[in-house]
Amino acid sequence: MEVWLSWIMGLIPVLGWLLWWWNEIWYALPVERRCSVAGVKLPPGNMGFPLFGELFTFLWYFKILRRPDEFINSKRQKYGDGVGMYRTYLFGSPCIITCFPSVNKFVFRANKAFILEWPNAELMGATSVVMVNGKAHARLRSFVLNAINRPDALRQIAALVQPRLVSALEMWAQKGRIVAYHETKKVTFENIGKLFVSFEPGPQLHEVEQLLHDMVKGMRAQPLNFPGTAYHRARQCRKKVEAIFRVEIEKRKSRSEETITDLLDGIKQIKDEEGNKLSDQEVLDNIIALVVGGYESTTLESMWAIYYLAKYPIVLKKLREENMTISQNKKGEFITSEDISSMKYTNKVVEETIRMANVAAFLFRLATKDVDYKGYRIPKGWKVILWLRYLHTNPENFDDPMCFNPDRWNESVKSGAYQVFGGGSRICAGNMLARIQLAILLHHLSVGYKWELLNSDAGFVFLPHPAPADRVEVSFSKL
Ligand code: HEM
Repeated sequence: MEVWLSWIMGLIPVLGWLLWWWNEIWYALPVERRCSVAGVKLPPGNMGFPLFGELFTFLWYFKILRRPDEFINSKRQKYGDGVGMYRTYLFGSPCIITCFPSVNKFVFRANKAFILEWPNAELMGATSVVMVNGKAHARLRSFVLNAINRPDALRQIAALVQPRLVSALEMWAQKGRIVAYHETKKVTFENIGKLFVSFEPGPQLHEVEQLLHDMVKGMRAQPLNFPGTAYHRARQCRKKVEAIFRVEIEKRKSRSEETITDLLDGIKQIKDEEGNKLSDQEVLDNIIALVVGGYESTTLESMWAIYYLAKYPIVLKKLREENMTISQNKKGEFITSEDISSMKYTNKVVEETIRMANVAAFLFRLATKDVDYKGYRIPKGWKVILWLRYLHTNPENFDDPMCFNPDRWNESVKSGAYQVFGGGSRICAGNMLARIQLAILLHHLSVGYKWELLNSDAGFVFLPHPAPADRVEVSFSKL
């Protein structure tokens, strides 16, 4: 018995040591050997525990302490700044975190060495712009950009979204008390339904919203495909959404080729340099990707705008002054995309909201080969996590970064420090659409309404996206 006990007592430290160092030995050591031959180093860091890596540390900062930026700050303190790269093991893979402007720019530019790889291709749509790489990506992207980023597309969008937004704001005032997240989500989805596929508010649009909601949930889940799992449900939802959109595509085949009423028509009509159009499956995958990409992000930005304007009345006052002047000149007409371009302060509020909202906190890439950057190696097969959030909350990039200060945009930003929409060949295809929608909301809110936070001390959550814990509950009325 005593012999057994002493064996067990002796094994505990050995097992502890193995647990502590396993990931280092398994992942980092072989790479370090290769690195020493090439005269480079693996970035400093900690690979954490087997299977989980640094997941618990990540959750500690994001979920328990709710100070997400401390995750990177703690690494800087422990390992020094270096070039803003740290090794770790997160989300099931060995990774290199990049968190300084220059190294992020380097990763964005080297788009052949660092590709985007989504784990759940069947949920994202295998032929959607967000899934494909290389030439196929460039071709699809030009279709999408043509459909949503052209000045005349933006002009149309500005005209189309306002009636619904104006009536939604009137309804909020009648309610008197709203949760901004829920209400902005409703109006954003109705507008996106109209803009993208001409769906009117009603049971079908509601069904699509529910299906997409469950689909997005499944994208973040483990890919375990059996009844009861979020992933399984997401696959079912994807099939149903596809069926609804397919009916819409078929319906339009009998219409004149020239008719363009929405984004779906736009994407169907565009031809590439060789005169080819997208296949039905490509149209389907891309329209779904655009709806998914567009609605949650726009909802969150709108919610944050309402939050910050309530917290910073001086900003609201300046915003109101600019927008009142525009409104008086319009004499009851809706604002146009040209008006929006001239609204200098409003556009600064838009940028400041997007900077502080940090809707896309980090992006993922896969290294397709060993890549060296300033004496450090990013090994082949490892993920790169571009920690965008830290760029926008680091006081070295933005003075007093947690203060909502649109006037900071009077000066140009440090190169590469503002990457809210990503960068390189995959920079957000809907960035102009997002900006214009937010500017329109700011205009109608500021000229017609006042609101106050009902829980001004509500804390924040940071996963899956940053948001005030009460999703911004406000009292809301006409001016
Ligand atoms: C403020 C709101 C938004 C933010 C913060 C945002 C952020 C981003 C980011 C960071 C990326 C790069 C992803 C990567 O490189 O891995 C991206 C890509 C993309 N976004 Fe947005 N987005 C927003 C709104 C929209 C809207 C309104 C749409 C469309 C309707 C849209 C469509 C897309 C598409 C299609 C891509 C993929 C582009 C490509 O791979 O070429 N986004 N977005």
